[in-house]
Amino acid sequence: MIIAIDGPAGAGKSSVARAVAERLGARYLNSGAMYRAVALASIEDASRTPAELAAAIQIEVGRRVLLDGRDVTAAIRAPEVSAQASLIATDPDLRSALVSQQRELLATGDWVAEGRDIGTVVAPHADLKIFLTASEAERAKRRGEAVGARDRRDATRIHSPLQPAADARLLDSTSLTLDQVVEQIVNLAETGVAGR
Ligand code: DC
Repeated sequence: MIIAIDGPAGAGKSSVARAVAERLGARYLNSGAMYRAVALASIEDASRTPAELAAAIQIEVGRRVLLDGRDVTAAIRAPEVSAQASLIATDPDLRSALVSQQRELLATGDWVAEGRDIGTVVAPHADLKIFLTASEAERAKRRGEAVGARDRRDATRIHSPLQPAADARLLDSTSLTLDQVVEQIVNLAETGVAGR
């Protein structure tokens, strides 16, 4: 079973996806961490393109994020890495390199995967697609930083822009607790699975 959770920054995707994965005994894929790891690598080595870097480096995204074996879990959360990730994510060559890696991971076992293009590009056949949103003010509060510029870039880029898949369920988390959002998604997943 694959559950895709897409949405803008600060909508709660990571916390929700991790908790849903735990509840369902599935694995959790944070695709944004892969873009962030390449972003960090490109800040450190501006001589190579993001796609060249993606082909050359080893990224592991689990509980910790490793870049060529180095623990970059905290480093990739820096605001300049967020901005750089959004910038390089417009590059179609980088996207196709990371999408291939993501599809390889999702090919075996049960997954809850979150990002911007999981339901539209990475896993269009996902069993359940959620588009998780929250008001811009709430998302900025949760992130502790302005998210508007990055969202606008992510949503208006030419390749794989952030947009709900036609068959995604929209879920607005503005006035819901984490537990409430998780409960709704787990219910949808269990109903869907029972109905197949
Ligand atoms: O989810 P996040 O905020 O950690 O993602 C960082 C950036 O990476 C985001 O601004 C856009 C890009 N991204 C993407 O283009 N596609 C994804 N599936 C995940 C992230």
